[in-house]
Amino acid sequence: MVETDLEHLLSIQNVSIMSVYSIVKICHVIFVILSISGFVYRGSLKMAGSEKLNLKFFKIFPHVIDSLLLLSALVLVIISGMYPWRVDWLGAKLLALLAYIVSGGLMMHSKPESKMKYVWFATALLFVIYIVLVALTKSPIPGL
Ligand code: HEM
Repeated sequence: MVETDLEHLLSIQNVSIMSVYSIVKICHVIFVILSISGFVYRGSLKMAGSEKLNLKFFKIFPHVIDSLLLLSALVLVIISGMYPWRVDWLGAKLLALLAYIVSGGLMMHSKPESKMKYVWFATALLFVIYIVLVALTKSPIPGL
């Protein structure tokens, strides 16, 4: 009887951990969509040499979204126990994220007249596409 009660309690806890995981995963995907669409929009403004980029909104909002994206990733990693140094596709995702941040930063800081801004924008887009493919296929080499 005691064992059955314990099993019942555990099964209730398992269900709630699973639903917390699903909710955080949905939030993660929402932050991914907001972050990538925001990046593409800011990148297009940068390519067009727009002054809009100096708006306070663009200095704050992307950082809030990106922090929430990383926080949700951290919660998923902790709940699932899939750490980037143990799971190859998560390691690849994290490295590609660093490359995406660096190339995105270089794009944002390049001079308006510099041709390199196009190169950094394209590089950042390739890295973020790779990250999404890795996330969807759960493989460091999507397609294999
Ligand atoms: C730009 C950065 C990121 C993008 C575009 C991204 C994209 C995604 C997407 C699309 C999914 C849903 C995959 C599915 O449908 O199953 C996902 C899930 C997930 N992501 Fe991210 N992610 C990013 C950053 C990270 C980081 C930095 C980590 C941690 C190292 C991480 C850890 C996870 C985990 C653990 C899952 C859940 C896997 C599962 O249980 O199915 N993500 N990510």
